Amino acid sequence: MNQKIITIDGPSGSGKGTIAAIVAKNLGWRVLDSGALYRLTGLQARNQNADFDDVHILGEIAGHLQVEFMDGKILLEKHDVTDAIRSETAGNDASRVAAVAQVRAALLDWQQRFATSQGLVADGRDMGTVIFPQAALKIFLTASAEERARRRYKQLKEKGMPVILTSLVEEIRERDERDMNRSEAPLRAADDALMIDSSALTIDEVVEQILAQAREHCDLPL
Ligand code: C5P
Repeated sequence: MNQKIITIDGPSGSGKGTIAAIVAKNLGWRVLDSGALYRLTGLQARNQNADFDDVHILGEIAGHLQVEFMDGKILLEKHDVTDAIRSETAGNDASRVAAVAQVRAALLDWQQRFATSQGLVADGRDMGTVIFPQAALKIFLTASAEERARRRYKQLKEKGMPVILTSLVEEIRERDERDMNRSEAPLRAADDALMIDSSALTIDEVVEQILAQAREHCDLPL
């Protein structure tokens, strides 16, 4: 059991990323946004005009990503891709490459190396089930597809990205379907995960619930 790891898994738009970042900041721990690694792999595959059906090429791309995480910015081969990886196309490409075993294998060690004595909040789909099964606290965060689509809509609008709400609900459903039904590390709650439905909760309320659990299960400074 590792008392310095909290995992937060759940479907797209459940608020995992935002909540993981706030929880990590509160605890002074690092954060792993594992979805970003799949988004980067998808973006790189598209940049290189790779064949998305060629699992070996996709695995090679994932294994050779040149990425730097700098002050909240993500650089891919020195180019700032912080916003580019958040587009709906990048999300869909991520979900496609994430179904490939060679890609998941190439990203495994990299993700596990994020766990240091400083403490880690890891968000994704398989953090509690595959990458950090030894985490002392595992959260599975959900929200209805409509609520998640509304949140994503707001986020994308704020960034000035073109977006249509009804197609977002559709895309979110499709992505959930693909993430839950794939054979490699499907999206599912770990048996020992705490389920939180955030549909009717504010970000602060979710954060508070997680911190209360962390005080109970994790190794925190007094
Ligand atoms: O969390 P985010 O929406 O950024 O993730 C993008 C895609 O990457 C997801 O739809 C999912 O297919 C994939 N993913 C994954 N395993 C993770 C994190 C993300 O398969 N741990």
